[in-house]
Amino acid sequence: MLILAIESSCDDTAAAVLQDDRTVLSNVISSQYDVHGPFGGIVPELASRRHIESIWPVVAEALDRAKIGLDRIDLIAATQGPGLVGSLLVGFTFAKGLAMVRNIPCVGVDHMTGHLLSVFLGSRHPAFPYIALIVSGGNTSIHKVTDRRTFECLGRTRDDAAGEAFDKVAKLLDLGYPGGPVISRLADRGNPRAIAFPRAWLDHNSLDFSFSGLKTSVVNHVNTCRQKSEPLNIADICASFQEAVVEVLVAKTIRAALEQDINTIVIGGGVSSNQRLREAMQKRCSAGQLNFFSPEPIFCTDNAAMIGLAGYHHYLHGSTIVPDTDVYSRSPRH
Ligand code: KG4
Repeated sequence: MLILAIESSCDDTAAAVLQDDRTVLSNVISSQYDVHGPFGGIVPELASRRHIESIWPVVAEALDRAKIGLDRIDLIAATQGPGLVGSLLVGFTFAKGLAMVRNIPCVGVDHMTGHLLSVFLGSRHPAFPYIALIVSGGNTSIHKVTDRRTFECLGRTRDDAAGEAFDKVAKLLDLGYPGGPVISRLADRGNPRAIAFPRAWLDHNSLDFSFSGLKTSVVNHVNTCRQKSEPLNIADICASFQEAVVEVLVAKTIRAALEQDINTIVIGGGVSSNQRLREAMQKRCSAGQLNFFSPEPIFCTDNAAMIGLAGYHHYLHGSTIVPDTDVYSRSPRH
């Protein structure tokens, strides 16, 4: 089965062509960093407008790179939610329109489900059940994944997502947007123990996260240095901040696996391409004899290939959409 997949939940316009749930024939991502960079974060209205401009060129390029004409597509899969409603509407409405005109079945896919399954786009596949940590600009959550359609959220952020914290700290330090890649690059040159930023463990048993206090601590540290006219050691701030985020993410994910008696851990989402997070998770998994799986970096960030993969399984279970099916901004499941 040939699948055309479309993703537009936030600030990336993406399209992919897949053969069944395994072979990615093309995977095109058009980012909007030039639009949102000057603001240090995503401006929803501008994101929707850029999606409108990009959607057809991106879809056309995906078909072109895959060398597949629209007439050969058997299924269209598009992100239905959660995300920015204006952004979602562009990709989802485009997919529904194309499906109706061409008489192709269409499925709506939950964005988080795409991230939870994105590891299957690689060559090493985890066995079910597994514990998945999804860390991105809009989400930070831990899930128990029982099979390709059964997920249980065990914990989630109570305020900022991890990626959002990276982006806000980068904005504070005037490092540009998105913040994650630049902070992790600078952190390589810094001392992760230089500044004792707090770790928010929350209640004893909680698998929830909170990163807003950590962000405030970075603000306080910067203000204190400025008041005392002390120079800011940006590399140390980045390394210490990153370490505080990584330590909590790893500890809570490992705890979830032990509590659930599950011996496989998977990560996904834009922040999961962070090298320090991957190393720390791998080390803790090896020490605890747990299996660790991470998608290739290109499938960590928002992408349409993961939507095609999840869409394929929705379709096999008969869940196609009708013309008036709507998008949703928040998912009750995640
Ligand atoms: O999944 P994603 O592409 O989409 C959204 O949720 O929008 O994640 C983007 C997020 C941004 O916040 C970005 O700063 C963060 O992922 N990110 C990283 C790294 N690469 C991207 N955070 C930490 N380290 C990285 N290497």
